[in-house]
Amino acid sequence: MGKITIAIDGYSSTGKSTIAKQLAKALDYVYIDTGAMYRAVTLYALQNKFIAEHSNDTDAIVESLSKINLEFAYNDRLGYSEMYLNGVNVEKEIRTLEVSKYVSRIAEIKEVREMLVGMQREMGEAKGVVMDGRDIGTVVFPNAELKVFMTASPEKRAYRRYKELLEKGEEVTYEEILKNVALRDRIDSSREFSPLRKADGAITFDNSDMGLQEQFERLHNYAKRVIESK
Ligand code: DC
Repeated sequence: MGKITIAIDGYSSTGKSTIAKQLAKALDYVYIDTGAMYRAVTLYALQNKFIAEHSNDTDAIVESLSKINLEFAYNDRLGYSEMYLNGVNVEKEIRTLEVSKYVSRIAEIKEVREMLVGMQREMGEAKGVVMDGRDIGTVVFPNAELKVFMTASPEKRAYRRYKELLEKGEEVTYEEILKNVALRDRIDSSREFSPLRKADGAITFDNSDMGLQEQFERLHNYAKRVIESK
């Protein structure tokens, strides 16, 4: 049976990565979290003070791209890959609200997207991948055999993210998360380069009122059908 490419795109905090990870495990595919790559570049820009509340030093960010080395390393114990920035495990740092606040601004930069899209195409070349992000079905792999566009209401998404951050011990309020979710939706969908939109041929998957098990079963069945037809 041939391997396929599965592209999962959608709004932030729709649970793309949870489902993509489960799907990859069930199919024995590689999972690639492209948001982690944009987040790692953002962390680098923050560490080097190239971005601040009211300014971006885009030239400095672009110039420093050649100094950024990104790698995923599989963690056996956790059962998924973790992000390494210049040899350092940054899995925890890239998930903070601080990074979430700035990441859309980094993802707007054309040169950043070109570099990351190039890396993503290499990683997925051999097929047998589940890749999640915003532009996987539209730009990175427009020929993916299965494309999914995940959505859920902003309130549901903000609540899920709020719970997640609270569990990690971050001091956040639901209102600020909802604001961040709405702001990221706006920037992600209206940016000039590769805005978030549903790819041609993608299935819309609204999981506002769906539990994890149901989401997994539905997508797993879709995937199995597509794989069997190959
Ligand atoms: O999926 P996430 O929330 O971890 O993604 C973080 C940000 O990165 C998101 O606000 C948009 C951006 N992103 C993107 O522009 N293209 C991708 N393929 C993945 C993420």
